[in-house]
Amino acid sequence: MRPTNTPRGAVSVYQRGGVFDPVLHQGYEACQRAARTTEIEYAVSQLLPAPLRLAAWAVYGAARAVDDLVDVGADGAPAADRAARLEEWIAAFDADLRSGASTDPVRQALIHTMLTWSLPPSSMYLMFGALRGEAAGRQLATWQEWRDYSSLAWASLAQQIAWLFLKAAGVSTEPEALATAMPETVLAWQTMVDALHVTDALADLAEDLTRGHVSLPQEALDEAGVRRADLLNRRSTVAFESMVRRLAGQAHAGLGAATIPDLVHPLIKIPLDAYAGLYRLRLETVVGDPAALLHRRPVLPSGARRRLLAPARIRAALAWTLFPFPFHPGTTEPVLPVAPAPSTSSTGTGTVRPGDDVRTHWMKQPRADPTPHPSGARPPRLPDQDMPRHVAIIMDGNGRWATARGLPRAEGHRAGGEALIDVLHGALEIGLQYLTVYGFSTENWKRPTDELHTLMSELVERLRRLKDDCPPLDVRVRWAGLHSPLSPDMIDALTAVEHTTQHCRALTLTACVNYGGRAEITRAATRLAHEVAAGRLRPASISEHSFARYLHIPDLPDVDLLLRTGGDQRTSNFLPWQAAYAELVFLDTLWPDMDRRDLWRAVEQYAVRDRRYGSVPPPRPGVSRRIG
Ligand code: IPE
Ligand code: IPE
Ligand code: MG
Repeated sequence: MRPTNTPRGAVSVYQRGGVFDPVLHQGYEACQRAARTTEIEYAVSQLLPAPLRLAAWAVYGAARAVDDLVDVGADGAPAADRAARLEEWIAAFDADLRSGASTDPVRQALIHTMLTWSLPPSSMYLMFGALRGEAAGRQLATWQEWRDYSSLAWASLAQQIAWLFLKAAGVSTEPEALATAMPETVLAWQTMVDALHVTDALADLAEDLTRGHVSLPQEALDEAGVRRADLLNRRSTVAFESMVRRLAGQAHAGLGAATIPDLVHPLIKIPLDAYAGLYRLRLETVVGDPAALLHRRPVLPSGARRRLLAPARIRAALAWTLFPFPFHPGTTEPVLPVAPAPSTSSTGTGTVRPGDDVRTHWMKQPRADPTPHPSGARPPRLPDQDMPRHVAIIMDGNGRWATARGLPRAEGHRAGGEALIDVLHGALEIGLQYLTVYGFSTENWKRPTDELHTLMSELVERLRRLKDDCPPLDVRVRWAGLHSPLSPDMIDALTAVEHTTQHCRALTLTACVNYGGRAEITRAATRLAHEVAAGRLRPASISEHSFARYLHIPDLPDVDLLLRTGGDQRTSNFLPWQAAYAELVFLDTLWPDMDRRDLWRAVEQYAVRDRRYGSVPPPRPGVSRRIG
């Protein structure tokens, strides 16, 4: 189904955002309609890249849907009915989240977004808690109650959006990591949210009065000497106007306190700056004519709005081309409150399971299973917690394998390519999420020209084959390494396979080609130094997390198991940052002799290792340990 507002042939925001399923599409459209009712949020969402824009609409649309259920006086329903409607919605959300699907279009879009971006359901539940109070028709008495409500309802919505932004920018969403990376931002967050809440309470005043409601706490009216009866009769007084000016001034200062650090990815900083700017404009409009607030919602002056948004649009478009997001949705497991029920069907229901490639799932592409090993061997079954998430392999020994057979070294590289395919199928069979292989190092340029020539053509050939084989296997291929001095042919092959497989998710295969660990770290340091020199980054704000954002693949997880074939026991400049705490396994097997069973055996070795990370964990009962 083509989106209604997209000309034939044009790629809609839904398609660019990875939404192809018609039912899901409808859900996102409903969320978009809800978002459209806001002036500022919708304008800012237009500055976001498509996947993030859809996610923001989904979160906003769902918040709006539940808020509408509890709105005081919206449809004259008594408090008990509003509360019952809310509980019904929450119960349905619980059930839908467990199954990963919904018959309600808005919840469908929300759940799709939550699974795609691994949004924690906790903030949704915080919001429900706040709305329960609202459904009961509770009038907030004090500023303290107001702030409590704000931190539950508003902050949890803001938190969902912030989580999306941080994920997209490749910043860790772990609270400690956030506090280290951006302490000022975390502290300023609540101040900013309070300021937004006050601004909207003023802007929504006329609409609230229509329903006989005043959302500001009674304490605010008492402090200013404003009588509720005057407000309900829409009578402007000196006290009312001065209250509006004072509250707007405080909100203005609150927005100013929350400066967005330059460290934040430009694709995030540009919309956030625009958001704060538009809210300031809203406050200026409010202060310009306080009495009018009693009768209508203030509309932003179109000239000023345009002056703010036009350059932001240009900057955002430029940033999209210059600084692509390091993170793509769906690369981490969603956080679910309970394990979802296994899905029996991969078509027609719109069910998304954790680990599914969401985009291709909706496209319902045919999937191919990994080919079994000719011996009929099956992978060992290991408990999830004992499985490595990320295995990295130094595929060494091609030359010796060939020489031992009286063959040219080139033959060893060709046979090595075949071994990789078998290992890839084995990695899929055992359910590995990340496999990273060392294909060519920055030091390998020292080899004789004819070997370089055959090595490169074998690699290009292999990449072309991966480009055809990987999409049906749901394998995403990514490249880590430097461009120069690779040939255009090689760069084409690498970027083509990356492009073709970008939405695959069962396994991520990272090909390290023209890769050197020191070169990677040096490049990251150079880029950081540029940021500091340009005044966009404070040296004190550099943390391990922020540093990792400058590596070739910022969201590549830490290596759990580093495997080297060929008998040598060294790491040869491979992933020094990511493998800092990896378990090492060295095999004498020459790489072309390696097959998936060697991988599985290495994984079994890994499964019985004790990973202590410097601490002293209690022994796990019932698990046998190898000695030595
Ligand atoms: C690994 O095999 C492949 C690459 C380094 C590209 P080698 O070519 O290093 O094989 P050996 O170590 O000489 O046997
Ligand atoms: C490491 O193997 C590089 C790759 C496997 C691509 P090498 O054969 O180049 O490693 P060293 O030089 O023996 O350490
Ligand atoms: Mg070697």
